[in-house]
Amino acid sequence: MNPHDHMPLQGVDHVELWVGNAAQAAFFLERAFGFRRVAYAGLETGQRDRTSHVLAQGDVRLVVTGTLRSGTPVAEHHARHGDGVRTIALAVPDVDRAHAEAVRRGARAVAEPHERSDEHGTARLAAFATYGETVHALVDRSAYRGAFLPGFEAVAPDGDGRADRALFGSLDHVVGNVPLGAMQEWVAFYESVLGMRQLVHFSKEEVSTEYSALMSKVVSDGEGRVKFPINEPAEGRRRSQIDEFLEFYEGPGAQHLALTTDDIVATVQELTRRGVRFLPTPAAYYEDLPARVGDIAESLDDLRRLGILVDRDDEGYLLQVFTQPLGDRPTIFFEIIERHGARGFGAGNFRALFEAIEREQARRGNL
Ligand code: FE2
Repeated sequence: MNPHDHMPLQGVDHVELWVGNAAQAAFFLERAFGFRRVAYAGLETGQRDRTSHVLAQGDVRLVVTGTLRSGTPVAEHHARHGDGVRTIALAVPDVDRAHAEAVRRGARAVAEPHERSDEHGTARLAAFATYGETVHALVDRSAYRGAFLPGFEAVAPDGDGRADRALFGSLDHVVGNVPLGAMQEWVAFYESVLGMRQLVHFSKEEVSTEYSALMSKVVSDGEGRVKFPINEPAEGRRRSQIDEFLEFYEGPGAQHLALTTDDIVATVQELTRRGVRFLPTPAAYYEDLPARVGDIAESLDDLRRLGILVDRDDEGYLLQVFTQPLGDRPTIFFEIIERHGARGFGAGNFRALFEAIEREQARRGNL
């Protein structure tokens, strides 16, 4: 059966984070990451328990929501998890059908299909649960013309945080971290409930190595518009980064959002100027880079200076870099990615980074 038959996906509509302070999170995303504030909901719009800011850049739409009082779902979610992704919203042509199919295939309903309207039109929405307390909303906004969704008011752009050029184009993938032994179950969930397919050309990545300390499988819709890698911890030389996430997020959740750029050198340079901090890359990583990835268009000096990683697969290469965690806990972060044909996720960088760290350790006489 064609997987599109029961669940055509038009893309990720938006990602909503529940945070401790939405005003400051929005400010951070504007000033540090160049997002533009486009819509708002809160006391002024008649929303009494929470406040939300909608931020956009390229095709990426993020919502940050904070609680206005104790004891609310947002307050409780934040108390348990810290800042994190609550909702990964999917754009679908038929919310009722998609929701009914998802539930019939085993998803737990969180919100039955319903309508929301204001003077700009009507949106149809529903939601079902995925890993941890994370939710997939289903959104049909084809009859809606407002700034975001009914109940939100448009925000006049202030332009202050705007970059000269867009730093990001689209959302490449959203990674979920789940406990040891649960990865296959969630891959099966996405295959069944969302009609997604496992990307098979990463078979290499499915085997954990002494370097990787994690296992990862990727599910994608047929068009490649929606890609969800699912990670689980594995025994490695070091404690797994996935274990650390699960401990501090207090359960499964979304680990990172990968944003595309068509000029990673310019984007990372600009983000660095704005104060964004990235995971450091050991200098030794660049020693064997030309041999490992072959010819690339970017200058090795730029990549080394900015700590940008490179990986190659059968179809091309990709450049990527990871930010430090966005909040206090070592949980959610961004990845910046530029693809040159490669459709992978940078699996080769696990080994390359570990080897680089060990070369530096060896130089210090500590290996
Ligand atoms: Fe990633």
